[in-house]
Amino acid sequence: MRVAMIGTGYVGLVSGACFADFGHVVTCVDKDAAKIDRLNAGRMPIYEPGLEDLVAANVRDGRLSFALDGADAIRTADAVFIAVGTPSRRGDGHADLSYVYAAAEEIADLINGFTVIVTKSTVPVGTGDEIERIIRARRPDADFAVVSNPEFLREGAAIGDFKRPDRVVVGIEDERARPLMTELYRPLNLNETPILFTGRRTSELTKYAANAFLALKITFINEMADLCESLGADVQQVARGIGLDNRIGSKFLHAGPGYGGSCFPKDTLALVRTATDAGSPLRLIETTVEINDARKKAMADRVAAALGGTDLKGKTVALLGLTFKPNTDDMRDAPSLDVAPALMAMGATVQAFDPEGMHEAAKLMDGVVFRDGPYDAVEGADVVVIMTEWDQFRALDLDRIKLLLKQPVMVDLRNVYRPEDMKARGFHYSSIGRPESAR
Ligand code: UGA
Repeated sequence: MRVAMIGTGYVGLVSGACFADFGHVVTCVDKDAAKIDRLNAGRMPIYEPGLEDLVAANVRDGRLSFALDGADAIRTADAVFIAVGTPSRRGDGHADLSYVYAAAEEIADLINGFTVIVTKSTVPVGTGDEIERIIRARRPDADFAVVSNPEFLREGAAIGDFKRPDRVVVGIEDERARPLMTELYRPLNLNETPILFTGRRTSELTKYAANAFLALKITFINEMADLCESLGADVQQVARGIGLDNRIGSKFLHAGPGYGGSCFPKDTLALVRTATDAGSPLRLIETTVEINDARKKAMADRVAAALGGTDLKGKTVALLGLTFKPNTDDMRDAPSLDVAPALMAMGATVQAFDPEGMHEAAKLMDGVVFRDGPYDAVEGADVVVIMTEWDQFRALDLDRIKLLLKQPVMVDLRNVYRPEDMKARGFHYSSIGRPESAR
């Protein structure tokens, strides 16, 4: 099948490369000439494990190409995917759909023969109806169906998530789209992946409901972690104890500094707005958003507490990890963006290291001193804080860290280490939701 993918952001690029790998002929289109040049030269605009090799292999085999002008690809496509950005609109938190609608207009002018237009971007309920209206108004003669096909990819694990998903959700209003969408995802038959056909609005809402539920689950365990600290219980054991109940499930029960990233913060906010506008407010999700925002800010106080107070003048804090999670260079809504400025406001000097995120971080974190490696970052600091659980921070040479620090204090916001081990090594160690260990 022939596929045109509008937008070579995270979702567009990963989906385009994976569809090509499934055997389809895919053209990824983007208005950003520099990005297209870079992709044509084999360089990726984002860090995602395995993506560069996947793109290279499919370009070499002639199934994947990149274009600034999408006209040819759209004219000949069986399916045109809209995978452009939907940032939070400034001021009201609603998803900004201007890129989606601009793509719809462009597609309207070009489609030729029966074409399925698929939204992969996360869009509010009813966007598919609006896309259909825009295309119909511009091209009353066009033969097309608008489909919702949300993505459930996790950054850092996106290729695996695309190729071995738990399910694929497809929202259709026109039955003619069903065989075409089934064919697109046919390689997933091998793994017997459920492909769930629903109405279009249902599919659009399913995406938001999934992210809101996961954000709620994380927030639940984060609050439970605070309670564990007050009661002297261990949140990791509580998480295991409840997670082994199949009705609850063990995933997304890692307590931490609060969720970040490009999806949960934006999507929960957009869903809250949609629900309020629809007169059916989601109070649980409203509260989730509030708790998470406050939590990210409160993490700086934990670091200050480990140093004995909120006056951090003359103190140096080493942050290990800046991105919102490992295996990405994405800094969007990362807890480090709240923690670093708050520590500096208390008078601290902040020195930091992240394996992939420093380039992005440098644009967003004024005043932070970036270091070349974890040991450089720790040198001369009063406390080391694990912000993101990159693999390389899981096996640090702790004796070396201890020598490099002015005093052996670690705040582990991802529960990477075990309190008893850290105590045995002579660290003053605090983590999330576990009994503290003093030296
Ligand atoms: C999330 C969803 O997991 C994907 O299914 C979805 O497709 C994607 O959003 C999206 O809407 O595009 P992502 O934002 O890449 O994916 O990252 P997650 O792995 O879900 O992590 C999100 C945040 O939650 C991170 O800050 C992570 O540290 C935090 N988290 C996650 C926890 O604090 N505890 C957990 O147990 C799990």
